[in-house]
Formats: sequence, C-alpha cells, structure tokens
Amino acid sequence: MLDKIEALRGEVNEFKADTQAKVEEFRIKYLSKKGILNQLMEEFREVPNDQKKTLGQALNQLKVYITERFNSLKESAESSSNVDFSSIDLTRSATSFPIGSRHPISIIRNDILKIFSDMGFTVAEGPEIEDDWHVFSSLNFPADHPARDMQDTFFILRNPIDVLLRTHTSSVQTRTMERMRPPIRIVCPGRVYRNEAISARAHCFFHQIEGLYIDKQVSFADLKQVLLNFAKQLFGAETKIRLRPSYFPFTEPSAEMDISCDICGGEGCPFCKQTGWVEILGCGMVDPNVLEACGIDPKIYSGYAFGLGIERITNLKYKVKDLRMFSENDVRFLAEFESAR
Ligand code: DAH
Repeated sequence: MLDKIEALRGEVNEFKADTQAKVEEFRIKYLSKKGILNQLMEEFREVPNDQKKTLGQALNQLKVYITERFNSLKESAESSSNVDFSSIDLTRSATSFPIGSRHPISIIRNDILKIFSDMGFTVAEGPEIEDDWHVFSSLNFPADHPARDMQDTFFILRNPIDVLLRTHTSSVQTRTMERMRPPIRIVCPGRVYRNEAISARAHCFFHQIEGLYIDKQVSFADLKQVLLNFAKQLFGAETKIRLRPSYFPFTEPSAEMDISCDICGGEGCPFCKQTGWVEILGCGMVDPNVLEACGIDPKIYSGYAFGLGIERITNLKYKVKDLRMFSENDVRFLAEFESAR
C-alpha cells in the first residue's frame, strides 16, 4: 500500500490542469466520494493493525498533499482564464436578437449630407404638405405654365387655396429664404410626391436633396466647383462632370449635370447607353424673380441652387434595378446593406 501511495503522489504531481474543467476532473478523480483517496481509505480499514500507524500517517499526508494541490490548481486556473466576472451581464439573454440594417436611401442621404456639411452647408427641412406658393408660384412657375404639368401633382385641396403634396424639395428654398437673410447655405433632404404610375423606373414618391447658396457675388463658377468636389467625394477622385444647358423656371441659366460613368470610366457601356456619362442632378443660378418673391434684393445678392434624386444616386452606387425595391421593405433586400449597429 505504501508503494501505491507513493505512485499516487507522483501521479498527482504530474496532473496538468490549466482549465477549470480540468480542475474539476482532478477533484472528481481524487477527492470525490468515489474518488481514489476514499477508495484507499476503504482499503486502509483492512490492513493489519501493526501497519496501521505508518500507513495511516502516509495516507493522511497524501490527503493533505492532494488537497493542497487541488487548491493551487484551482487558483491558477481561475486567474489564467483571465475573465473579469464583474463585466459579465448575467441577466442578458443567451440568444441574440436580430438587429436591422440601415435603409440604402438613408445611407446615401447621410453620405451626401456629410459631403455638403463638410463644405459649410447646414441642413434645413420643410413640410411635405405644401401650398401652391411654396412649390410653384414663388419659384417662378407662371399660373398656366406647362412646367406645372411636368410635375403631376397630388392635390389635397383646390379651394380656396391649393394644398398639395410637394413635388420637389425646391419648396424648402422659399421657406428658408422667407425666414433667413443671406448668407444662406443649406441642403434640404426630404420626400417628394408625383402622380406617376408605379413601375421599375418611376414611383409616386421618392427622395430629393435640394441645395441653395445665396450671398453677395456668387457665380456659376462657385456652383461648378462645389458640384465637382461633391461628385469626386461621392463617386471617387477620378470622376469628371459635365454641365448641359437645361430649363427650370426657378434658375437662369439652368443646367443638368452628368458624371463620367463609374462602371466603364467613361468608355461607354450598356449602363450609360454607350455615352460614357450619367445624369445626376439639375442646377442653376437662382432666378432674380425667386429672390424677389422671397424678399431678397437681386441687385445685391445672387446665388445658385441644385436638386438631386437620392434614389437615382443610390441606384448608381448599388446598381438596384427596380425602384420599387426601396419601398417594399423586403428584409432580404434591406439586410444586404450596412448594419445599423
Ligand atoms: N426641382 C427640380 C426637380 O424636382 C430639381 C432642381 C433642378 C432643383 C434645378 C434645383 C435646381 O434647385 O436648380 O426636378
């Protein structure tokens, strides 16, 4: 039995237990009710009386040794596991809850607003339910001008005044100029509505960002430089822009801006219909009539404005082919975009 005790001491000494599970294994093997130590105690009862003294002492020493060894293994496993238990929230659910992702329109809107706010623009907003003055008349749309038809309006009320869903965010230009004096430098994000049949390429509501800068001596060159910087920031430093003459009632001169196609780099591909260019926004110098309508003297101040469709730019960025995807809220589609975490 003495040999057995010696062998066991060696075995215990060799036992490696660097994890808490291993320490527990050690405890069960040697110190539990059915463990080796208790088995030896049982055997000890049977030994002849003349050996009891020596064996008893050896057995006791072994017990002390194993207990001490257990305590030290336990301590080092706990400290080496390096877990700071105070930082563990035991009330937390074991199953994690799915978290939504940001809507692609919001991602691109935020990106665009960030670019303009870095250039000194502040964000302004206005109501979606508007009157004729803010959406049309103040913006130099004459009463029977066909430009009003271009915008297939949803009317809410026709008498005594026209109340309607705004067809563009240009109405926020008027709202801001009515209550602020120049210098004015704003970008206005928001939802707009048009009475269009819903298809892959058109929707009855969509999102725009309007830009407006009014100050002394603002020129078309200022507009061009701001838009060039915007295009490079959003689509990459290689991006080129081109301005084509166009018509809007509220700007004179007016232009439409194209960027070099970011798919083919301007070589020509099916996406840009082989032209190498894609249109992204309308812009121009604010018409003096608009400044006057808002109580700003066009002899002292000038300014530029621009307006862009967020869906259009999101399509360019993410190659979404069907506009309806943006409003159907199919989670399989939405989950493909940046997590909201
Ligand atoms: N309001 C125009 C639209 O909805 C976009 C636009 C064009 C806004 C030119 C502007 C601008 O401020 O200068 O189609």
